[in-house]
Amino acid sequence: MSAILEIHDVDKHFDISGSFLDQLQLSKGKITRKRTVVKAVNNVTLDIQPGETLSIVGESGCGKSTLARTVMGLYKPNKGTISYRGDRIDHLNSVKMLPYRTKMQMVFQDPYASLNPRMNVRQILEEPVRFHNPDLSRSEIKARVSEVMLQVGVDPVWASNYPHEFSGGQRQRISIARALVVDPEFIAADEPIAALDVSIQAQILNLLMDAQEQRGLTYLFISHDLSVVEHISTRVAVMYLGCICELATAKELFSNPKHPYTQALLSAIPRLGGKIGGHVRLSGDVPTPINLPSGCAFSGRCPHVNERCMQEIPAQLKLESGSVVACHGIEEGRI
Ligand SMILES: Nc1ncnc2c1ncn2[C@@H]1O[C@H](COP(=O)(O)OP(=O)(O)OP(=O)(O)O)[C@@H](O)[C@H]1O
Ligand SMILES: [Mg+2]
Repeated sequence: MSAILEIHDVDKHFDISGSFLDQLQLSKGKITRKRTVVKAVNNVTLDIQPGETLSIVGESGCGKSTLARTVMGLYKPNKGTISYRGDRIDHLNSVKMLPYRTKMQMVFQDPYASLNPRMNVRQILEEPVRFHNPDLSRSEIKARVSEVMLQVGVDPVWASNYPHEFSGGQRQRISIARALVVDPEFIAADEPIAALDVSIQAQILNLLMDAQEQRGLTYLFISHDLSVVEHISTRVAVMYLGCICELATAKELFSNPKHPYTQALLSAIPRLGGKIGGHVRLSGDVPTPINLPSGCAFSGRCPHVNERCMQEIPAQLKLESGSVVACHGIEEGRI
């Protein structure tokens, strides 16, 4: 089966140097100009297969949201290519991107911030349908909106209410309805349950899973809740400082994590019968994406680091299990 999305060697860097005057620095009696660049996403290669849920995990600031936004065309990559069903979509202007906007939708963490407070639910849901399907009649648009509202569990009688009149869980249902109403194939969900009460999280997850089954959707799912990720994902990509260090099926990753960072990350999940492989305590400073280490991004904190790790960026290595890891230690057979 061919991939729905192919991300090849993508970098997304942000220049945060500020104005020319902000960039000037006095060092050793000389004025020099210094640029500051946040290397949020680095050399990411990933494919997403139709119908799967590919999750991205990693600690705060590792570039998960930036990668999702770059895939969605909200940021232009500095390097690399992104293809949707074989068509290059990176660097398309907003008009050329329009046909893909109906196919690719995004759900955000904070449903309140992502819904226009001045529009009622009917307006929020009808606007994208009308925009993308100018030939539909008023009654057809209304029928489509009612159908999607029922699917997400918001009674269409509430359609004239405004976002602030709903609870957090209901608002996230409306955000999901807004994504579904244009009949997408692919949804990037960035921490869609993180802002919700624990009792509501399971309902929203079930809603996303049911929608996937009914509509054959493909998900890029971002969450820092590893037990949720284990439960819902087909495959999982582990990110560290903008790089993908391991990509494996959820089953393989959670039962047999290979990369030292994945092992450390998973060792923090409490489990019945003890944690996987005991707790791994990482030492060293957490580097920032402004000053990336020269070799492997994880080299500063890796317990298995050697000279090569500090100098050479590890290539992606496909293991017999099908997992992909980027680690010199695994390649050299010493981990
Ligand atoms: N628009 C921007 N301008 C400058 N820097 C940015 C921008 N967006 C993100 N960054 C930086 O890029 C890095 C990655 O951020 P990102 O939001 O992608 O991380 P994340 O993995 O989604 O984190 P979290 O789990 O906290 O949501 C961070 O250092 C962040 O400060
Ligand atoms: Mg984020």
